Amino acid sequence: MTELVSRSHDQPAGRTFPWIAEGMAFGGDYSPEQWAEEVWVEDVALMQRAGVNSVNLGVFSWGLLEVADGVFEWGWLDRILDLLHEGGIGVNLSTPTAAPPIWLLQTHPEIATVDENGVRTGQGGRLAWSPSSATFRRYALRMVRALAERYRDHPALRLWHVSNEIGNENSRCYSDETAVAWRAWLEAKYTTVDAVNDSWGSAFWGHHYTSFTQIEPPRFARASHNPGLLLDFDRFSSDALLGHYLAEREVLREVTPDIPVTTNFMIMSFTQVDDYGRWAEEVDVVANDHYTISSDPLRHSELSFSADRTRGIAKGDPWLLIEHSTSAVNWQTVNRAKEPGELTRNSLAHIARGADGALFFQWRMSTAGAEQFHSGIVTHAGADSKVFREVEALGAALKNLAPVVGSRVESARVAILFDHDSASAQSFGRMPSTLLTPQDLPKRLHRAFAARHIAVDVVPSTVDLSGYSLVVVPTLYLVSDEAAERIAEFARGGGHVVVSYFSGIVDESSRVREGGYPGAFRDLLQIRTDEFFPLFEDESVELDNGWTADLWTESLELRGATALASYRSGERQGVPALTRASVGTGTATYLASRPDDDAMLQFVDELAELASLPVIADADAGLELVRRVGADASFLFALNHTAGTLTVREGGTDLITGEEHGSTVTVPAGGAVVVMR
Ligand code: GLA
Repeated sequence: MTELVSRSHDQPAGRTFPWIAEGMAFGGDYSPEQWAEEVWVEDVALMQRAGVNSVNLGVFSWGLLEVADGVFEWGWLDRILDLLHEGGIGVNLSTPTAAPPIWLLQTHPEIATVDENGVRTGQGGRLAWSPSSATFRRYALRMVRALAERYRDHPALRLWHVSNEIGNENSRCYSDETAVAWRAWLEAKYTTVDAVNDSWGSAFWGHHYTSFTQIEPPRFARASHNPGLLLDFDRFSSDALLGHYLAEREVLREVTPDIPVTTNFMIMSFTQVDDYGRWAEEVDVVANDHYTISSDPLRHSELSFSADRTRGIAKGDPWLLIEHSTSAVNWQTVNRAKEPGELTRNSLAHIARGADGALFFQWRMSTAGAEQFHSGIVTHAGADSKVFREVEALGAALKNLAPVVGSRVESARVAILFDHDSASAQSFGRMPSTLLTPQDLPKRLHRAFAARHIAVDVVPSTVDLSGYSLVVVPTLYLVSDEAAERIAEFARGGGHVVVSYFSGIVDESSRVREGGYPGAFRDLLQIRTDEFFPLFEDESVELDNGWTADLWTESLELRGATALASYRSGERQGVPALTRASVGTGTATYLASRPDDDAMLQFVDELAELASLPVIADADAGLELVRRVGADASFLFALNHTAGTLTVREGGTDLITGEEHGSTVTVPAGGAVVVMR
């Protein structure tokens, strides 16, 4: 059987535990309850063939374990745990609380979430529970305790997987029970109702509150709710969900103090959970779910941004890709299968950017239920399939990547600041342009740096900036005084700062900073704007440095900064569009419009020169490069997203094939290498 590993992981919660698998964790969600027991034997044999060493088990199985109130049937789970253990496969055992049993929803329909219109969620889906429901909490914790006590000593148990994507279908609840919890949260935050009135600016439309009891969740209204209220409700909802996670975690830690605990995050989903940075403090390993959008031709770039952001949330520690797909999903408009090689590149890209494993949703494609057409490792066609063969080859490759486990992605000199709070604030209320979305510019900049082989961290604005040479602040709409001051201090101390349009506009209460835009950064940038002139969908502007730009223009005035470029066309001709100010021994650059792809690359080249940014390695354009660094080796990942052969001018051992390379390594079209030296 597989021994528990070797390598320890120091994790955000400050605990150390043995890694959950021998080498890279590899496998996926396994739902044996959907299959006859004869199939389980075949499953374990196929898992061994594919190199699977880690499965997420029991995720939605509450109704099959607690078959009636307080009546537990463990037999099937006992048997599959034993079988997996005999097969050398480690288990991330899920508390099954994501899907309450039918009997519970029937006897206590009040545990379900209620939407803005007062409609209570019915049975038949999943995550149909409110984190503020005391009744739900009681039943959930009883289940968790029973599970933990039953399997506390099971040798297959490696990790607790709490519930599933907490906040996915139950991110908001507007019930009366939630209203009570919401008021208590506000009272703890503000102490007095006048402080709430001040923060939200509730004089607007005369929404003045004279007591906490008058405050309600933002239920259906015909006009927009107050953005400050919406932002606080977002934060409250996230805290309520986190409270549920913590309650489960406490039971698990009490019963099994040595088993690490996590829950699967949805880091690139911006509507569900506020601030995973706070959640990350509470898990023993950051675990993320990521799915590419098949219609997006740049989906591998989106993946890279997501993986870098996940590492940022994990504070640079190794993390776990706990779910992604082998091929098609079933929840997009068109669910196209992945191209040959794509699942391998996707897995390796996450690993390159700090994951110590890649798990798939799911092991075997379902034949029934809501996810019938969601891909798996074993497809409807069986193991004789393109997907299974590719997974098998990937499993073999990952075995060879065991030395990478525990290494860290080499420190970047560039930080892109990205805060969930800011992104949420931007999505509330009526904005100058709905074409401006919070992720757009951060991703475009990230893509341009990646194209130039320059390493970037995607981090929250709360991080220590001292190790960076360049800090990029793209559409950071909401920023605290404290973060704005640290960014300014970074420039004064010799750092280079780039701020874009629509940054620093509001404070933490989502109230606009007065005195001209971009409020929090106006003095640092030595500019002032009094009006925005966002562009319509089909408009663009020429700049006098040769760039083409779109989306945004503004009536910017210089207040000490120099214009690096001005508009050459359109209504704002002659108005500065790109400015730079000297600040202490550093600089502060302002970008007032969105450069097209070519211009963005020129911008990145100019910034690389300004801040003397190193490249990760000397390699052909079109390769995705990332370097992880361990105690005594460096691992250069090179992924080829093009249809031609490309070259990296660095020698070493290709960990995947074992081949030795002198001073150059070629990467076949669509292929990947991991060069150790
Ligand atoms: C999420 C869930 C899984 C499954 C997949 C489908 O990530 O956690 O249970 O529904 O989506 O893509």
